[in-house]
Amino acid sequence: MNTMKIHIKNFGCQMNKLDAALVTSALKQKGCTLEDSLTNADIILFNTCSVREHAEERVFANLGHIKHLQKKRPEIITIVFGCMAQRLGDKLLEHPAVNLVVGPSQIPQIPALIEDLLDKHGDAKVIVTEKVRQKLPDDTSDMLEKFEQIHDSDDKNIKCQAFVRAMRGCNKFCTYCIVPYVRGPEVSRPIDAILSQVKHLAEQGTKQITLLGQTINRYNYQNQNLAVLLEKVSQVIGIEQVKFITSHPAEFSDDIFHAIANNNKISPYLHVPAQSGSDTILKAMNRNYTVGKYLELVDRARNIVPGIAISSDFIVGFPGETDEDFQKTADLIKKVRFKNSFIFKYSPRPGTKSQEKLQDTVTEEVKKQRNAELLDIQNAISQEDNAKFLNTTVRVMVEGLSKKPHVNRAENNDLPQLVGRTSSDYIVVFNGSESLAGDFVDVKIIKTASLTLFGQL
Ligand code: 5AD
Ligand code: SF4
Repeated sequence: MNTMKIHIKNFGCQMNKLDAALVTSALKQKGCTLEDSLTNADIILFNTCSVREHAEERVFANLGHIKHLQKKRPEIITIVFGCMAQRLGDKLLEHPAVNLVVGPSQIPQIPALIEDLLDKHGDAKVIVTEKVRQKLPDDTSDMLEKFEQIHDSDDKNIKCQAFVRAMRGCNKFCTYCIVPYVRGPEVSRPIDAILSQVKHLAEQGTKQITLLGQTINRYNYQNQNLAVLLEKVSQVIGIEQVKFITSHPAEFSDDIFHAIANNNKISPYLHVPAQSGSDTILKAMNRNYTVGKYLELVDRARNIVPGIAISSDFIVGFPGETDEDFQKTADLIKKVRFKNSFIFKYSPRPGTKSQEKLQDTVTEEVKKQRNAELLDIQNAISQEDNAKFLNTTVRVMVEGLSKKPHVNRAENNDLPQLVGRTSSDYIVVFNGSESLAGDFVDVKIIKTASLTLFGQL
């Protein structure tokens, strides 16, 4: 497998980005090189997502393209791993382009599985998934833990920033969500394992750590909770900033907010999806909180950490969502004034409670309309609130060159356009030397838009 060219494409969340980075690192250690173009690759890997149907459709469209490529180059090996691999298993293996299907908890086996395939001249078909709802066998857990520790998760696009998993799986079973079925039960990683990984990353120059978990505020390892974990990670020499995503609105203890308030290395930023502003819908979603409780949480967070940035996810068109329910969601957005919101149209996922027990009553047209309406409301709020940054100076961790240069540029000079984020996760675009990537800089904001602040070094 030495010298083979791999092309890896990621679908889905930050957790998937991390998995893709770990697999890439493992394959590079085996001598593979990264290939940007799909057409020239020897091994094509898709890290897949099952959260919405659309994500799965995109993978199938890509597989169709590979089937076409394989007419000329039948030796191309195609690997589908992650959530969709777990969900569809055999069905995915039936696709003529696919050689290997690997579930999320078998990801560490990918290099060895490729070696086996190559021994069989690439035309074999293999599936490796496990019944994830059961507690994973100890050897699988050990393997996952070792894999996580050996391979670095440095995001090649963002120097000096790394994602570190704090938790795997989810126990919440929101009725619309596939994650608990494909990622298995909630498990907190040992705190020492996380810390030794962070130390290792810091020694290599990582300054910012983003801790990942589906319900990160539930982190608990031998009675050490997220507040303790954040504190300890922030104390690692070289670490300047710690972020954490994603939180669940129920069970949010004040000590997490106090940890943020008392430690300026911990990001004053919460991604805490509300999903809906209607108690009826929240109940049908099995979210275990009411709108009142959510608002109370926002108050507590803002009282303890003034200025904390809060972002949310919302699903529109959940089964039974009436115009009145929808209006309540719009009201919640207006009341909380989120920093930003991700809005999704409900997508029934096979095997989930809502798909099995509830009719997908809201038409696609209404879903689209509600989606657009919420986006408009959120954009207007973000635009207004972002204007408050005008003429202020913010500290930004420079991520690198701005991928899509903004036309709405703040200034016109010869230096390239860079992008970075503030500690509370605002995106800032400004001109500067590319060598600043990975540094913290002060930027004066001279123009604002709903998703971006524009400034000058
Ligand atoms: N349909 C639409 N959106 C979904 N999400 C999760 N499951 C579904 C689904 N079946 C959204 C939720 C979650 C985000 C990651 O994806 O808002 O917070
Ligand atoms: Fe899915 Fe709910 Fe778990 Fe989030 S908390 S991963 S939405 S089941």
